[in-house]
Amino acid sequence: MPKPGIAVGRSVPRVDADAKLRGVAKYIDDLRLPGCLYGVTVRSTIAFGTIRKVELDPCWPWKDAVVAGPKDIPGENCVAVIEADQPLLAPGRVMHPMEPLLLVAHPDRNRVWESSKHVQVSYDERDPVLTVSESLARKQLLRGTDNVFKQYLIEKGDVATAFAGAAHIVEGEYRTPHQEHAYIEPNGMAAWVEADGAIVVVGSMQCPYYVQKALKRIFPGRDIRVIQAVTGGAFGGKEDYPSMLAGHAALLALKSRKPVKMLYDRSEDMASTTKRHPSVVRHRTALSKEGRLLAQDIDVVFDGGAYLTLSPVVLSRGTLHATGPYECPNVRVRSRAVATNSPPNGAFRGFGAPQTLFAAEAHWEKIAAETGLDPLKLRRLNLVREGSVLATGQVLKESVSAAQALERVVARSSYEKTRRTHAVCNRKPGKVWKGIGLALVHHGPGFTGSGEVMLASRAAVALERDGRIAVLSATTEMGQGEATVLAQITAETLGLDLSLVRVETPDTAKVPNSGPTVASRTTMIIGGILMKAALKLKERVVQELGSFPTTTKGLKEAGRKLASKGPLTFEEEYRKPPEVVWDEAAYKGDAYGVYGYEAVTVDLSVDRTTYEVKLRAVHTSTDVGRAIHPELVRGQIAGGTVQALGWALTENAVFQRGRMSNSQFTNYVIPTFSDAPPIDLDIIENPYSRGPYGAKGIGELPHNAPAPAVVAAVRQATGLLIGDLPVLPEKICHGLLARRKAS
Ligand code: MOS
Repeated sequence: MPKPGIAVGRSVPRVDADAKLRGVAKYIDDLRLPGCLYGVTVRSTIAFGTIRKVELDPCWPWKDAVVAGPKDIPGENCVAVIEADQPLLAPGRVMHPMEPLLLVAHPDRNRVWESSKHVQVSYDERDPVLTVSESLARKQLLRGTDNVFKQYLIEKGDVATAFAGAAHIVEGEYRTPHQEHAYIEPNGMAAWVEADGAIVVVGSMQCPYYVQKALKRIFPGRDIRVIQAVTGGAFGGKEDYPSMLAGHAALLALKSRKPVKMLYDRSEDMASTTKRHPSVVRHRTALSKEGRLLAQDIDVVFDGGAYLTLSPVVLSRGTLHATGPYECPNVRVRSRAVATNSPPNGAFRGFGAPQTLFAAEAHWEKIAAETGLDPLKLRRLNLVREGSVLATGQVLKESVSAAQALERVVARSSYEKTRRTHAVCNRKPGKVWKGIGLALVHHGPGFTGSGEVMLASRAAVALERDGRIAVLSATTEMGQGEATVLAQITAETLGLDLSLVRVETPDTAKVPNSGPTVASRTTMIIGGILMKAALKLKERVVQELGSFPTTTKGLKEAGRKLASKGPLTFEEEYRKPPEVVWDEAAYKGDAYGVYGYEAVTVDLSVDRTTYEVKLRAVHTSTDVGRAIHPELVRGQIAGGTVQALGWALTENAVFQRGRMSNSQFTNYVIPTFSDAPPIDLDIIENPYSRGPYGAKGIGELPHNAPAPAVVAAVRQATGLLIGDLPVLPEKICHGLLARRKAS
């Protein structure tokens, strides 16, 4: 491990800790807006059809209420993300349950709900498309001529010939369900119109500039200012939806000429905002006698929901991670995201990779079951190393830690010994069966392919009058700790104490467009840009004064001297490393500049009577490049692991006619502290030459491995390969009954 610097490599107190601990941090619900109205959304009760009539109950007192509909939208009726196919308010056609139809605002927070219930909507209902197979069979056309939002194809080598010469051919199908983000703070937004006509929105969000871009099309010709409120968690769930909510709040503000606040309660948030894309992934694999991969033929289908939103990019990441961190000479990955009549699915930690990596890793269990080969040995034989070539032709040049992560987790968890002792225990009578399972994954931090080039993110540092350095970026703190990490990188680069660095609130009137806070890109990409900006500032000061001061007094003086000669803000833009080459049209090349790697073991028991799964221990070995803030890195790994374990075991999103029917935590069961297993966290620091101080991203990687490791462990415990998440006790029960019947 490298030595800690003045700020980097140290678990310093979080820069946002003080305000949060003292309760003075202002989340959107804490914001006092005198004279504000509260807005609510009238939503469709059907999955698919047309609106026949909308009526306001003539017996209801509408006097203080403001109602806004599609006709009140001054510009385009759309929420622009990648495309603009999703309306801000359904203009006539309804595509999914909970689709926004109309908005109601009222000065009384309780009364507004009552009012919204007095809007009467009648429909001509049509038969909805509820599954990806119905969508692919074109039961109804929801999109284009084939219901496909986006498709990709990766081809490497000659798959057909490789299958002809294979010793083993193994096929499997794997399914993953919706997942709710379960951020602590539901979505919320406030909006008002300034005297000069400018629209201001403040709220819980990940991407202020995405919101601004979307609002410009809804309200053309107006200045749009977007400010992030203190945000209580997001996990990808506040990447695109806040643009919709901001549009709603702003539309009501425009119509009422008053500030408007819209705050979702838990149930509305869960039923109407995005989820992780459900997936169906099929693998057909050719192997040599000893288990070397000869060919991987993979078919991926994601359920995109009713509108395109972020599905193309979620699918892209899923497609590019579909082989797992293994080298195979012949690969074909075909992937499609298709339309169904449910709320659009969206970004969620891992962004498509957890789905396809679940299939890739669970498939090793199928291969092991059918060939009799050992899952650990199979991975050792096939994992990527320096010089390996991925399916897109990408040659892995540096910081390739698959083998290191695997061997470290195997050693730390005593995987092989535990596996032997569990096998012995499972043959004897007892209350439980035990199993330990393994998974090995990778994750490419930063936007996929040409994404970072197209974003052209900017960030800046400024020398301020008070002698402090301001970090200016649109990157949002949502609990993950980015404000602290970006301050650390800036302080380290300038050789300053952390107390001399201040992080500006993401506000489009104050900070440059640093792109969205997503895709595990913040530390590596924005941190890298800030490092360059800080070096530029330092160079300029040294040029003027001969040295760079490290005290408030010295910095103040430097500011005074420089101010007369030019600006004190130093901005930098993302520059692509020259060796990273991606061809978007051919879908070939360096999909990501580098990858993080993680190996995980899950040790669990299954009750022989109730089939309840209990986690005994989890071990993780994770390569992060460099841990800028070790405690925050541990927080990301522990949090991501537990979130993935919830997806694997208990989170069962039930959808009926396209609508989530368990949109509350009483029966959508997320893990709590008492469900979290003891986790042994092992950080590997294998630096990336292009990352600031060697850092790669860490936000998403920990969501990839735990679920397939659970499936592997349940297979050792029960002999059942349950490739369909979540692994509920009833699935184990049915599997055992089916096996008993068959034998
Ligand atoms: Mo994300 S899931 O890239 O916010």
